[in-house]
Amino acid sequence: MALNSSKRAREAIPSRVIEIKDPAVPLSIDDLFPEKRALEVEIGAGNGRFLISRAANYPDVNYLAIERMLGRVRRLDRRASRLGLDNIRVLRLEAFYTLYYLLPHHGVRTVYVFFPDPWPKRRHNSRRLFAPLFLDALWHTLELGGCVQVATDYLDYFAEIKKHLATDPRFEEVPAMERTPDEQTDFELLFRGKGLPVGQCAFRSLPFEEKPLSPLTLPPDMLPREEERAEQQF
Ligand SMILES: C[S@@+](CC[C@H](N)C(=O)[O-])C[C@H]1O[C@@H](n2cnc3c(N)ncnc32)[C@H](O)[C@@H]1O
Repeated sequence: MALNSSKRAREAIPSRVIEIKDPAVPLSIDDLFPEKRALEVEIGAGNGRFLISRAANYPDVNYLAIERMLGRVRRLDRRASRLGLDNIRVLRLEAFYTLYYLLPHHGVRTVYVFFPDPWPKRRHNSRRLFAPLFLDALWHTLELGGCVQVATDYLDYFAEIKKHLATDPRFEEVPAMERTPDEQTDFELLFRGKGLPVGQCAFRSLPFEEKPLSPLTLPPDMLPREEERAEQQF
């Protein structure tokens, strides 16, 4: 009985998952959170270990998790609800599309990308998130002076990410953030546990000529993968 009532209590807590009625309409961030605060976004947030820890420790910041896998979205949502965090929201959408079309321009203070899918096979390299169009979306999304924080165990991809950012005049390298043990992600714990090296870097956005983003046709690589399509809507 006690179990049932605590389960009911948990279910009564409102979900932090953003309901998207029309994916073509840009998000009105101020309507998503109870208070207007600086906004930080994590791409591919997984189970949310990093972002939940940040949201608990920095209640004066709003955090948006973008994650396309349903099971991970649900776990992140349950954890945030259990802790009663009001400054975290979860969006189950493709991250590149979200940055390109849905987030406000120059409205995000920090974008975190920790352990992005490395797509190690050469024929799959084009699926990697860090590519010229993503950098366009990233620059438009970040506040001027805002930062992207990156970590990955895949050192070949790490070198590629650094090269993209370092050769783009809209970004300059700054020291990577230091994270507490609570802020290490689930994948990070796994990789560090195996003794694998982890590359970390951060880049700040600089003022540059504003050019509107051109409309895109998403290539098939950017669309959800088979196993994700098979999942039910949240
Ligand atoms: C290797 S996992 C890392 C998860 C988490 N950052 C961590 O370090 O524990 C990559 C995550 O990014 C998500 N992901 C990959 N590409 C994405 C995209 N384009 N849009 C949204 N989520 C994406 C995957 O579903 C997966 O949960």
